[in-house]
Amino acid sequence: MFEKYKKVFREDYRTWYEENGAYREKAAEDPRRLWFHLMPKTGWMNDPNGLCQFHGTYHIYYQYTPFEPTGELKLWGHYTTKDFVHYKEDEPVLFPDSDYDAHGAYSGSAYVEDDQIRFFYTGNLKYFDRDDYDYINSGRGSNTITFTSKNGHDFTEKELLMTTADYPSDMSNHIRDPKVFQQNGMYYMVLGARDREGTGMVLLYQSKDLKKWTYKNRITTKEKFGYMWECPDLFELDGEWILICCPQGVKQQGIDYANVHQCTAMKISYDFVTDEYEITDIRLLDRGFDFYAPQTFLDEKGRRILIGWMGIPDADYTNPTTESGWQHALTIPRQLVMRGNQLIQEPLEELKQLRTGEEIVERFEEQTKVCRDNLVYEAVVEYETCRSMKMVLRKGVTLSYENEILTLDLGTCGFGRDTRKVKVKELKSLQIFADTSSVEIFVNHGEEVFTSRIYSLEGEISMEGSCRGKMTIYSLKAFSIEGGYDE
Ligand code: FRU
Repeated sequence: MFEKYKKVFREDYRTWYEENGAYREKAAEDPRRLWFHLMPKTGWMNDPNGLCQFHGTYHIYYQYTPFEPTGELKLWGHYTTKDFVHYKEDEPVLFPDSDYDAHGAYSGSAYVEDDQIRFFYTGNLKYFDRDDYDYINSGRGSNTITFTSKNGHDFTEKELLMTTADYPSDMSNHIRDPKVFQQNGMYYMVLGARDREGTGMVLLYQSKDLKKWTYKNRITTKEKFGYMWECPDLFELDGEWILICCPQGVKQQGIDYANVHQCTAMKISYDFVTDEYEITDIRLLDRGFDFYAPQTFLDEKGRRILIGWMGIPDADYTNPTTESGWQHALTIPRQLVMRGNQLIQEPLEELKQLRTGEEIVERFEEQTKVCRDNLVYEAVVEYETCRSMKMVLRKGVTLSYENEILTLDLGTCGFGRDTRKVKVKELKSLQIFADTSSVEIFVNHGEEVFTSRIYSLEGEISMEGSCRGKMTIYSLKAFSIEGGYDE
């Protein structure tokens, strides 16, 4: 019914949905379904999109291919929540149903103002009228499109803002993922870009009315850093400007940039009057195997919240969930803060509501071993001292610390994932969120994070080594999710 490069209309989706109850049941039976992470009910999920809070409700849209787990034609799926524990799953909101976005309603963002949400996204087009397209500098269209909503569910008509012909002439056809913000009474949009020479960068546009956009500048590093920067997000956090983006084509350097594509946070000083800027620091936002395309937004409490895609494109490791007809998930929500000049990710406070009240507190001393068998849990470890340690997170998966290097080793549970490392001068604390088939490890209160899928369903937790401290293991309950739209 659905071909890779054919438009999908809401009516087609509804018919498909009615006919695919058995598919949903099959996916739901997979024991690897996550308890406290958002997943596609069937099919494929990638980037979070249009994140915002509007009249108290958080809207979490996402790149969605309901029809198969391999991620072909992209729609926008939709979850809502008020507390990050109770969710509603709504019908997909955005379909690749127009001549502007016929080959994918790609990633985009939300901007809340004047009692409405204004969305910006990329309409993807792929041309097949010639056989000599390289699909980099020719053969593709990337339209920047907008629409608004008064409730997050009903949208106005799509309005075309920019086409491939409108971007600077030295750009390739790869321009996408608009994110909008305001600064000194002016609106700005960042777009991920690749130029014709194969250099990754961000394009900066400016507007007075969110409708007419003028090109202002390009932001990139002095030395080329990859060929394409996807999903840019530029924001001020505690007086520091941060650019998060996903550079593709960066070579591995020692233990850094070990994944096929990167997700980095850059510190940048940007003068919006002269357009002079300097990128002063680049670091990986996450050290695990499965983290990409995060998006941030300011909520009504003024918190800068980040949600990422717990997956990555083009990796050579796999997910066995594909056999059950689904693939990928979103990360837990995190709050971004600056602590002493450093960007920190902290699990959102609301996640404490997942704790069931059942908890185990264990003291560990030098060379004693602590053992438990939980599978889904949050573990908080406070070290008084730690020269070296080896922790089992579940059967076959270890986290070890030696010579100032912290190593996550997935053993035989990684489906191609092996080890990832980070340098940590002093190991002071760990906060670990283990779900049925994922783990998120916050090191030293969020200075470093490892996010990964893991595929062992046998619970085991232990800690041993030259270390002393306290570990608290909290049992966690699952999210509640109401929906699909017909339920
Ligand atoms: C990042 C990305 C975006 C694009 C979207 C398409 O994962 O490639 O650049 O808009 O996914 O699904």
